[in-house]
Amino acid sequence: MSWSEKVALVTGGAQSIGAAIADGLAAAGATVVVGDLNPTDAHESLTLDVSDEASVEAAVAQVVDTHGRLDIVVNNAGIMFEESVADHDRATWDRMLAINLTGPMLLTKHAAAHLAKNNGGGSIVNVGSIEGDRCNPHHAAYAATKSGVHGLTRATAIDLGPMNIRCNAVAPGWIDTPLNASYVDSHPDRELVIDELAKLHPIGRVGAPSDVADVVVWLAGDESRFVTGQVITIDGGRTVRPPLPGILS
Ligand SMILES: NC(=O)c1ccc[n+]([C@@H]2O[C@H](COP(=O)([O-])OP(=O)(O)OC[C@H]3O[C@@H](n4cnc5c(N)ncnc54)[C@H](O)[C@@H]3O)[C@@H](O)[C@H]2O)c1
Repeated sequence: MSWSEKVALVTGGAQSIGAAIADGLAAAGATVVVGDLNPTDAHESLTLDVSDEASVEAAVAQVVDTHGRLDIVVNNAGIMFEESVADHDRATWDRMLAINLTGPMLLTKHAAAHLAKNNGGGSIVNVGSIEGDRCNPHHAAYAATKSGVHGLTRATAIDLGPMNIRCNAVAPGWIDTPLNASYVDSHPDRELVIDELAKLHPIGRVGAPSDVADVVVWLAGDESRFVTGQVITIDGGRTVRPPLPGILS
């Protein structure tokens, strides 16, 4: 099936990684609809709150009404905040789960019947994180949701495989976006922080949104047709190098 026949819905596509994914899918030739709390002029855009089931259902209906089909779903919208597990406020924990984990489940649920209608097969790509398997300080809620996204990815691949729907995830490492700005900005010298972060990466730099988008486009398209249930790490090699004591590294 050619890219020009495909219709994609990208959540959280108004900025950063989601915007790069929307750009990448559009450059490949797909029709792209961005669903975000904030509208964007860069692509066809609709207002979507992924944590609200009525909003998710309406977004899927709008895409299918307008374009007659839905082939690709990218569950990218997500939030991050720092809070120790010892201080967790129930409301902030629930909000993190609602956006980062329940959101992808809701969109998968409401998109499935439409994705299944496609002869070429539907593709769902979830945006997880390297923190789905490890964790920075005060990231209990974030890490829990990203572990959940990785599990949801495998479960979706199993449940929807018979409907000719694939589901994979990407697990980005450090991508320089507003999401992690509070970490970086906790130090007065931003450039120094980015330089020090770069040293943690065998590739010698932190990631850019397009580094993630290129892999998502591959997973969304037919070239990855026999790949499903996988979580692909995109981290410049950071997590394959175990830390050494500072005096040796
Ligand atoms: N930046 C990183 O280092 C990094 C690393 C690993 C994973 N990720 C994941 O990548 C995804 C995108 O992160 P980013 O860095 O581009 O973040 P970002 O904060 O720059 O952008 C997030 C986008 O999601 C939208 N959004 C937030 N809540 C929403 C909701 N309820 N409904 C719809 N849209 C909503 C925002 O409006 C925004 O456009 C997230 O799932 C994040 O967890 C990011």
